[in-house]
Amino acid sequence: MPDAPSDTALSAPPAPARAGGELFTEERSAEVVAASFADTPNPRLQQIMTSLVHHLHAFVKDVELTEEEWGEAITFLTRTGQMCDDVRQEFILLSDVLGVSMLVETINHRTGGTSTESTVLGPFHMVESPPRELGENIALDGKGEPCLVTGQVTGPDGEPLPGALVDVWQANDDGFYDVQQPGIQPERNLRGLFTADDDGRFWFRTIVPRYYPIPDDGPVGELLAATGRHPNRPAHVHFIVTAPGHRPVTTHLFVDDSPYVDSDAVFGVKESLIREFPAVDDPTRAAEVGLPNPFRTVHFDVALLRADQAPPTAQPADVQPTVVKGVPS
Ligand SMILES: [Fe+2]
Repeated sequence: MPDAPSDTALSAPPAPARAGGELFTEERSAEVVAASFADTPNPRLQQIMTSLVHHLHAFVKDVELTEEEWGEAITFLTRTGQMCDDVRQEFILLSDVLGVSMLVETINHRTGGTSTESTVLGPFHMVESPPRELGENIALDGKGEPCLVTGQVTGPDGEPLPGALVDVWQANDDGFYDVQQPGIQPERNLRGLFTADDDGRFWFRTIVPRYYPIPDDGPVGELLAATGRHPNRPAHVHFIVTAPGHRPVTTHLFVDDSPYVDSDAVFGVKESLIREFPAVDDPTRAAEVGLPNPFRTVHFDVALLRADQAPPTAQPADVQPTVVKGVPS
């Protein structure tokens, strides 16, 4: 048998068709690997793997990844996995700081402008919020700037939704959730499950939340540091709002004058979710609402889509799809 040519990858004519399929070349690497998924029984899995391979190969070719960089990436991903346990999910953090969590969230919860926009759930809704009466104060540790939160839950046409459930949780004035500081913060501090009144209205007392850093003592924190990014999230109150016959929404209420409101480490901020928290200096009003004077206020209305209302499925018209060469559309 003659010796095989030593360097055929770039200059050889197309190989004759082989019973086992096309051989790997630099030029057609993605097509060759994608073809290996041709017999995938689940069509959605086949679509995902085919697209993933095309994008991944395009990325490697785009940056001409070196073997050292590839090795470093493998080590990084290995360490990311090793950082995960029951209370720490480093892979979700990685997804967060790459904007993938927000993109998946946004794609799956399009509103079409008729309901409150969603944002990420975040990692701190790990305990049930305690049911509380309207007006109750959820700030049990007595720290921070007092604040009255008011709002109304409606359907997409503005119709009130009596009895809607409004689940809220937030960080304290030091930038920590209760579950991060067991024994330091009171249990269930700054959490509450409220039931809207007959007009769909809700109100409760709390404090103005503070910005806080995502956990940055692992590989994701190293990535942020290496790329000159900060790990902070702007101040926010988490909401999950549900009502019978309507699509629930998981969202945040952002404080407009918080640091990092325009550079959230996880890209969770949407313009429609930012509110002013004006100060009120009125002893009579303060006494009425049961807060020390002065105090801050914020109003946050929440509109839910009806359960039978199909959310928009297409991309907004002003967003052009990005085409990666060789990726089937
Ligand atoms: Fe949060």
